[in-house]
Amino acid sequence: MSLPEGAVVTHPGYEIVARQDFSDTTYLLEFQHPMMARAAKAGQFVIVMANEAGERIPLTIADFDRARGTITLVIQAVGKTTREMQQECRVGSRLHAVVGPMGIPTHIGTSKKVVCVGGGLGVAPIYPQARAHKQNGAYVIGILGFRNKALMFWEDKFRACCDELIICTDDGSAGIKGLVTAGISQSLEKHADIDEVVAIGPPVMMKGCAAATRERGVKTMVSLNPVMVDGTGMCGGCRVKVGDKVLFACVDGPDFDGHQVDFDDLMHRLKRYVPSEKQALERWQESCRIRGDAAMTQV
Ligand SMILES: Cc1cc2nc3c(=O)[nH]c(=O)nc-3n(C[C@H](O)[C@H](O)[C@H](O)COP(=O)(O)OP(=O)(O)OC[C@H]3O[C@@H](n4cnc5c(N)ncnc54)[C@H](O)[C@@H]3O)c2cc1C
Ligand code: FES
Repeated sequence: MSLPEGAVVTHPGYEIVARQDFSDTTYLLEFQHPMMARAAKAGQFVIVMANEAGERIPLTIADFDRARGTITLVIQAVGKTTREMQQECRVGSRLHAVVGPMGIPTHIGTSKKVVCVGGGLGVAPIYPQARAHKQNGAYVIGILGFRNKALMFWEDKFRACCDELIICTDDGSAGIKGLVTAGISQSLEKHADIDEVVAIGPPVMMKGCAAATRERGVKTMVSLNPVMVDGTGMCGGCRVKVGDKVLFACVDGPDFDGHQVDFDDLMHRLKRYVPSEKQALERWQESCRIRGDAAMTQV
């Protein structure tokens, strides 16, 4: 059936059904998307456009509920788009567009004893992997690292799927005082039969985790977060060096062998866009200030 001349097709978007604020900067959004919830697997991500004029940003599927038909994201407000979403995304509002699930799902395999390490925001994306390993019959050791106790989230969800849980905080306000690498050393000392370590967090943390397991030769997988543009393997924006290969995180990953990843190159590439990201944030903050002023004048 053809549309009448001048007709505009509007997409209703995806309704946000839950929101939780874990801290001043970290928030959870759960949105309705039954088809995606049916297809989603641990380790995959989506590309979200929060509003019609918004930037497309990649976000990991932190949880999915096939029965309720929902997808959960946990987001850290670091720049223009993630802060704008923090302001605008409320229960009942809609995400303009969501593409996914994207990326190769985590290979769950046959590992019998797995350590799942999440640092800061990385705690959210490691959760579906910990749950998938548990459902696959593995003995799961969770290691969660936060700067301090106030920033902790999802301890209960991890307790439900981990056989052991180690909390690490930089200041010692909860669990052991130290970095997640201290938790890894503790686990490696206690268990000689760990098959695999999976680590998600800032690149410097994943680099440290890979270094902590290298000597013992324990398989270590990491999930990389280079800047992504199209997410389809076309633009080359997300290329990463893994061993002697150049791979694209969006289609070849985002999970890679941590012992092969060139983390220094990744960290160097992540810094390349800092000046334009700073400019975008300043422009947005200025427009918010002007809108606020305008609103005040109208009162
Ligand atoms: C596979 C993948 C999964 C991710 N999952 C999550 C998640 O679950 N939760 C979360 O909070 N963040 C996640 N990120 C990072 C998130 O995409 C960026 O924080 C976001 O794009 C920043 O946009 P901004 O405008 O708020 O900040 P900007 O000021 O534009 O950028 C801040 C920093 O975010 C990173 N970044 C910026 N643009 C992109 C981009 N297009 N692609 C990737 N990184 C970018 C850069 O390191 C940059 O320095 C993920 C990134 C990737 C690649
Ligand atoms: S984001 Fe363009 S190739 Fe991966």
